[in-house]
Amino acid sequence: MSRCLKVEPFPFDGSFMFRRLVLASALLLAPVASRADSAADAAQRLETLSKLVKDPHPRVRLEALRSLAKIHGSRSAELALDVLDQTMDPTLDYALWLTINELSEPWIAALESGAWKSEGREKQLAFALKAIRPDQSSRVLGRVIQERRLPRDGSGPWIELIGQAGGPKELGALLQQTVSGGFDDSATARALSALGEAARNRKVRPEGDAKGILSLLQSPNESVRSATLRLSGDWKTPPPAESLSRLAADPSEQVRATVFEVLRLQGSSSLPLLKQLASDKDPATQRRAVLTWAALDLSGAGPALVNAVQGLDQEQAAQEFWRSFLAIKGAGKNLAALLPASGIPVAAARTGMRVAREGGRNDMELVLTLAKGAGLSADTQAFTGQLIRDMAAKASASGNPQRGELVYRRSDLACTTCHAIGGAGGRVGPDMTSIGASAQPDYLVESLLMPNAKIKEGYHGVVVETKDGQTFSGTVVRESTSELVLRGAANQEIAIAKSNLESRNQATASLMPAGLLDSLNETEQLDLVAFLSQLGKPGEFDASKGGVARKWRLANVLHTDQQNGQSDWMWKSALQDKRWNEVLSRVNGDLTRTLMEGATKANFWTSKIAVLALTEVQLAQPGTVHFQLTASPGTELWVDGAKVSGPVSLSAGNHRVLVRIDPNRIPEKIRLETRDAAFVLN
Ligand code: HEC
Repeated sequence: MSRCLKVEPFPFDGSFMFRRLVLASALLLAPVASRADSAADAAQRLETLSKLVKDPHPRVRLEALRSLAKIHGSRSAELALDVLDQTMDPTLDYALWLTINELSEPWIAALESGAWKSEGREKQLAFALKAIRPDQSSRVLGRVIQERRLPRDGSGPWIELIGQAGGPKELGALLQQTVSGGFDDSATARALSALGEAARNRKVRPEGDAKGILSLLQSPNESVRSATLRLSGDWKTPPPAESLSRLAADPSEQVRATVFEVLRLQGSSSLPLLKQLASDKDPATQRRAVLTWAALDLSGAGPALVNAVQGLDQEQAAQEFWRSFLAIKGAGKNLAALLPASGIPVAAARTGMRVAREGGRNDMELVLTLAKGAGLSADTQAFTGQLIRDMAAKASASGNPQRGELVYRRSDLACTTCHAIGGAGGRVGPDMTSIGASAQPDYLVESLLMPNAKIKEGYHGVVVETKDGQTFSGTVVRESTSELVLRGAANQEIAIAKSNLESRNQATASLMPAGLLDSLNETEQLDLVAFLSQLGKPGEFDASKGGVARKWRLANVLHTDQQNGQSDWMWKSALQDKRWNEVLSRVNGDLTRTLMEGATKANFWTSKIAVLALTEVQLAQPGTVHFQLTASPGTELWVDGAKVSGPVSLSAGNHRVLVRIDPNRIPEKIRLETRDAAFVLN
């Protein structure tokens, strides 16, 4: 074969077509790689491919991957795995899977000899272990476990890797270490989840006796209790009804929720217990029981459902109820036929109408029945172009953006759950930071009144139905050969095992609910539009510059904490802990007194010692950080458990920064700034 096809050093500013041409020549040359005299060529091709595999264009990355598969050797495997540092899609995922599959032996040899190091490449390691044959990954993992019994605190990627790629033997070893108390609480919970993941996504279970895990239901740690329950559900060996019934009243919300999840997975054998719990004395337990019952037997649960709807008088509870209810296949239509013609509480109806139209769902029967039953109007007419222009003009003339910001933050509208400003807020819909500078008021009004008219590129949703009777909608966050992860309308990630997928369709409606403005009066509507149209323009609604804390978590320190000797929970408790109330700063970065007070209302019989406002910063490398706190004298600044007054030197990673506030002298506002570290937003 002629040697004139030798690949020249690669011009990276070339066009996409040109890059593909270079790639094609690399491909053509690939078969030569087996010749002894072409080692230098192979090295040259690898050098070229090392750049192409990081190309901005996914198509180029894809072809680079397939070329790498033809050059047998550990370096090719290493380069192929680098593709994971960029956005993946199902095609790339599959191509990488094939490539690693073909290069498995050299990769394993490199891993075993230490030439390929896994530190800092956990993602790559996990992928490769799943791509190679099960007996190969089992061999690799088995050796690791043999060499070093997993550390008590579970540090390192091994627990999760065993869950993702281990065979019965490795899972068995993990199970034994777990039930024999070989891990601390947090590692125990992780090990239990890893065992569950293996059962759900790969249908692999540990060898040996699995009964021992039920003793972990007695653990004082809620994550351990809940993960144990969940695992017993995944293995289809749930605890007996008495235990489930007791756990349904567990002090931990997480555990209570898991009980019902397990009951659902168990199917119709759970019905007797569910019917009993549907008349429990606690309304939240009642609602959960009815919802689970409905998931298993929609028509049987009918009367109990109608009852539950009539008891929904609070926004938060109503929202949770509707979201879980409408995740049941065919639920909306079914309930619409059963609801009474009047007497539905307004809060229940309003929230139901919104949820029925969010996330690309459009349950019109239910919307109309709820509206009628609560005496509300269901404005579903098409809005004319004239009406939209009039409203935009009025908003520009008389809307008040300061008041509009408060409308935007209202929890019943849920704007912040789906949209972020300055990075703070949800990621279901587009970022709003500069919407006012980039969009005309007419466009804003139209987006609010008729979200379905134009769906923004990249925000089309999918609707997924599962074999076990659930429906989910949202945008695709990531996808692999075994799992699909969506971001749902509540900004939560939903993981669905591919083996459980029944159908998957593009949503016809926007993920943003129609009729959101129905509950606002005209002034409020105009204020909201005025606010949106200011976003990103210079002035007090410009959130484009970083450097200020936007996401806070607030909590009270009470006398009882001191009595119970709890003085360091603020440094140790999980940030998701119910004790912290999440609050976003205003667009200008201020956390105002009203916001602080709203988030820290305490029962009148407890006395507050302090109000805490916590935020987090992240450093890419160790450094000195200067914080600038704007607040009145009654406040103190603490970092990682120590009070600070000047610059602090911090290690790389995340750090908690806390403002401690005298509850009797809550300042007008607090504002925390730094240029030396990034505030953590997600
Ligand atoms: C359930 C999630 C959700 C809620 C709640 C929600 N949105 Fe949206 N929003 C979206 C999604 C998704 C899009 C993009 C799809 C589309 O264009 O319809 C969007 C689009 C928009 C757009 C157009 C943005 C653009 O760049 O084209 C505006 C403006 C907007 N939303 C404002 C709001 C306001 C104000 C609220 C509260 C009253 C709100 N949204 C509530 C999900 C939501």
